[in-house]
Formats: sequence, structure tokens, C-alpha cells
Amino acid sequence: MPARGLKGKNFISLADFSRDELLFVLERARWMKRDFKAGRLESALGGKCVALIFMKPSTRTRVSFEAGVFYLGGHPLVLGGSEMQVQRGESWADTGRVLGRYVDGIVIRTFAQCDVFDLAEAASKPVINGLTDEEHPCQIVSDLLTIQEKKGTLRGVKLCYVGDGNNVANSLLLGCALAGVDIRYACPAGHEPDPVILAKALELAEGTQVKGFADAAEAVAGADVIYTDVWTSMGQDEDGAKMEEFGAFQVNFGLVSKAAADAIVMHCLPAHRGEEIAADVMDGPRSAVWDQAENRLFGQMAIMALTF
Ligand code: CP
Ligand code: NVA
Repeated sequence: MPARGLKGKNFISLADFSRDELLFVLERARWMKRDFKAGRLESALGGKCVALIFMKPSTRTRVSFEAGVFYLGGHPLVLGGSEMQVQRGESWADTGRVLGRYVDGIVIRTFAQCDVFDLAEAASKPVINGLTDEEHPCQIVSDLLTIQEKKGTLRGVKLCYVGDGNNVANSLLLGCALAGVDIRYACPAGHEPDPVILAKALELAEGTQVKGFADAAEAVAGADVIYTDVWTSMGQDEDGAKMEEFGAFQVNFGLVSKAAADAIVMHCLPAHRGEEIAADVMDGPRSAVWDQAENRLFGQMAIMALTF
């Protein structure tokens, strides 16, 4: 049974999950949203303590996890990077060994994904990846929930990712391949998604399309969902030259007009209007970004309830 199988499991990469497990998480997220709105949410984390470690800034992830732990009856402990001894050289493994003795689960946002694996291996408690340079799996659970709500299904939906082939793009490749969402991507040369993750997505796809394009207009033709993210992710240096390099990959009215007539536009946020997304698209009728942000709460409550 997927439910029993997820208890105690880390949620670090979608590559570690089966299609059934991912669909099970999404189903739980849908129930939790329904129950939350009806004011009858179960106390799935009653009496549990959850450490939330943030080595990079966050608005959505931090607040939705902290609020989510509270709504599920648990106690969140938010730890900023500067408050922890890792800043002074303590290893992630030693940090994990200790935290595992105090808390029931750990959420971490940091730079290298190998640090998350070190933490998880040493802690005897489940660890959730709240974003690394490589992946952002919690974001994609909430995004798939949003697509399901807006399109009524996942299988056969056509999503096109336009922009930087970053952590969000990597996790989208894995999540869409698993969920049966056809995924196309258009990224400037040299900024494509991680080739190892792409290979894994192709392996998981089982008939679902996973395909890269050099031209954004060609990639979005007929898409049901257009997705974009910032051109410069946290931890990367700002590079003025990127504006020119990425110019043809802006999600603007012209690009959206090539997609299906009822296509929605998604962005994990924070957004830079006028860079990866035009303001009139971000704030226009096709934009699903606020519902997408709201769903972070339900996707993550489901992940915590099933793994912690
Ligand atoms: N989308 C997302 O993870 O947002 P934050 O960086 O604000 O957490
Ligand atoms: N790719 C972005 C996502 C932010 C939620 C970053 O890593 O900064």
C-alpha cells in the first residue's frame, strides 16, 4: 500500500517515487484541502515537532510549511542558516545525527542536494527537500494539484516550461513524467535542465512526452499549461548579459497566443515582471499563479502527513 510505504520515507527527489506514490500524495492533498476548507482537518502531526531549516530566503515554502505543521497539530521549529552551527563548519551529518534525536521530521532548503542526503542519512527521521540548487519537489506536487484542479485531469495534459532549466524545471520534468503530463521545454542554449535528471524523466515517462525545443514559440504550440521561473535563481550571480540571451524566452502575450485557447500560465514565484514573464500575463486572466501558491499549503501538508 502506498500510504504505509511512504511513512518514514524521505521526500528529497521525485526520482525516488513511483507514479502510484505521487498520485497517492496528490489524492491526500485534495482531501486535506477539502477538509481544511470545511474546518475539519485531522491532527496528523499531533504531538510532533518539525525542524524547518532555511539556508536560503523563502516566503511561500517557509510560511506554508510552518502554518501547515501548526494546522496539523504539530510544532514547527524554524531555523535560519545563521542560527546554526553549520555556519561555523559543523557537518550536515553531525547536524542530522543530533536533530534526529529531537524532532520527528526535518524540512530543509539549501544549496547542494548532497548536503540534504548527508543530513537525511544521519538523521533517523524523514527529511523533506524544501528546494536545493538541483530540485524543488514540493513545488511540483502543488503544481500538479493545481493542474488537476484547473484541467480536471493530469494524463495527457500538455505543459510547456519556458526559461531557465533550473531546479524547478528539473523537478517538473520528473513530476510530469511520473504523472503522465506531456512536458516540453524551451531553454536558451547552455541553460537546459540537468542531463541526468532529464535521462531519469525519460526513463520514468512510459509513453508520456518529454521533449526539448530550441524555439519557445514552437514549444508552446497547443500547450494547455505554460510554466516559467526566474532567469537567475538563488545562489547564482546576477548577469546582465542574460537579459539578451533569455529575451526570446519571455512568457508574454505573443507567446501565450500560440498555446491552447484555454491555456493557463504558471510560475512558482517570486516573479520578475518584465523579465521571464510580462506583467499583463502574470496579472491577466490566464494566470494561475495565486491558486498555485495557495496549493503549496495542501501539497506539503499531505507530504508531511504521509512521511512523518
Ligand atoms: N516558490 C517558492 O518556493 O517560493 P519561496 O522561495 O518564497 O519559498
Ligand atoms: N528557481 C528559483 C525558485 C525559487 C522558488 C530559485 O531557486 O531561486
